[in-house]
Amino acid sequence: MSEIAKLELNGKTYEFPVTEGTEKEKAIDISKLRDLTGYITMDQGYKNTGSCYSNITFLDGELGILKYRGYTIEELAEKSNFLEVSYLLIFGKLPSKTELEKFENGIRKYSLVHEEMKNIIDGFPKTAHPMGVLASLTSALTAFNPKSVNANNESEMFEAVCKTMSKFLVIATWTYRKNKGYPLNYYDNTKNYVENFMQLMFSLPTGPYKIDPVVVSALDKLFILHADHEQNCSTSTVRIVGSSHAGLFASISAGVSALWGPLHGGANQAVLEMLEEIKDNGGDVAKYILKAKDKDDPFRLMGFGHRVYKNFDPRAKIIKKAADDVLDTLGIDDPILEIAKQLEKAALEDDYFKSRNLYPNVDFYSGIIYRALGIPTDMFTVMFAIGRLPGWIAQWKEMRLNKEPIGRPRQIYTGNVGLQYVDINQR
Ligand code: ACO
Repeated sequence: MSEIAKLELNGKTYEFPVTEGTEKEKAIDISKLRDLTGYITMDQGYKNTGSCYSNITFLDGELGILKYRGYTIEELAEKSNFLEVSYLLIFGKLPSKTELEKFENGIRKYSLVHEEMKNIIDGFPKTAHPMGVLASLTSALTAFNPKSVNANNESEMFEAVCKTMSKFLVIATWTYRKNKGYPLNYYDNTKNYVENFMQLMFSLPTGPYKIDPVVVSALDKLFILHADHEQNCSTSTVRIVGSSHAGLFASISAGVSALWGPLHGGANQAVLEMLEEIKDNGGDVAKYILKAKDKDDPFRLMGFGHRVYKNFDPRAKIIKKAADDVLDTLGIDDPILEIAKQLEKAALEDDYFKSRNLYPNVDFYSGIIYRALGIPTDMFTVMFAIGRLPGWIAQWKEMRLNKEPIGRPRQIYTGNVGLQYVDINQR
């Protein structure tokens, strides 16, 4: 028998159906609550609120489980690659060889970014943060691709997906090139997606650029780990912006802005800045652990804690190993990394962090790898955005195909009541 939730309010009892997902998580469906009772629910930060039904990603924060379309993140990180995972997320199944080839060719076909986009990037000061530039350039893509996408039209949707995957990668690297004063590079259709990232970022017209396969493999894994994470802040943003029927590029641009914040994707940059600050202040790790525990001090250990994972972050386990491999293979000896290891050990042994289930999250280690790969700190969140892109696209597409209503939360008003307007001369 299906479960029913009962609510008693002012002597009346209301019944609400319980809905269950395929992984057995449950929700009380309160969609009729306001109609029936006149009340709304209050849930700041949406900690208890499901906003949609989704077939894309499952995660269990208590057990530390993350799956894309039913496959565990561990298996995908070990056996798959970023483009295949992107296909899986966006189109719902692992591609056949032919399907994957078609996808890669589609990405190549649309990889040229309109030359006039260079005028737009030229308008930014050299010091602009790459995430701000990326959000603006993503939005600007709309001007060059004005047709809004019909998610029900398979070929139109496929074209839009390929365009987004290729052009976003190119403009993401342009934000770095602009900052360095380097000429902007073009996608190379003879290389794969992640190789292209390295080449777009680092190759110079003055000489050949050698792509290191160890680096490409580590990056590929990092992108897989970041590819989707169900209804997080930036993904919910993409869905809610798209729910007004704003286009794909505009919705993704909003996702980039949401990701930028230090409590979300910006944390990987914040981790490195924190480690540098600790180093510059004499490397006293214990002092910073005390600061993080002090409730009168706003300082938090960046890269620790997670809204959903209250046990461990499964991505952090995989990435920790990748970080060790990369550092070993590249033979990197960096004092910042020593501080990171000390901090991790001290926090994991400390009761404050243990009792609150505060473990290193994916951003703690991703920043360390990016640094080892020579990626500048202010590009870290851009790296996250490149990885998250297929997730955003998949969620946007699903939201449109499910014909979800416009996202529009309610509120409880707590402002003034009944004021009378006073003329400006009498105030
Ligand atoms: N350092 C010190 N104390 C912390 C930290 C931290 N990093 N994170 C949480 N706490 C403490 C809080 O002060 C609170 O303590 P209290 O119960 O004594 O009041 C308790 O742990 C619970 O914290 P909340 O803020 O309620 O947890 P919430 O789930 O809302 O926040 C968040 C999660 C935002 C990730 C938080 O842990 C944080 O700010 N971490 C640092 C930033 C970070 O690494 N963000 C990346 C997240 S991963 C991602 O976006 C991919």
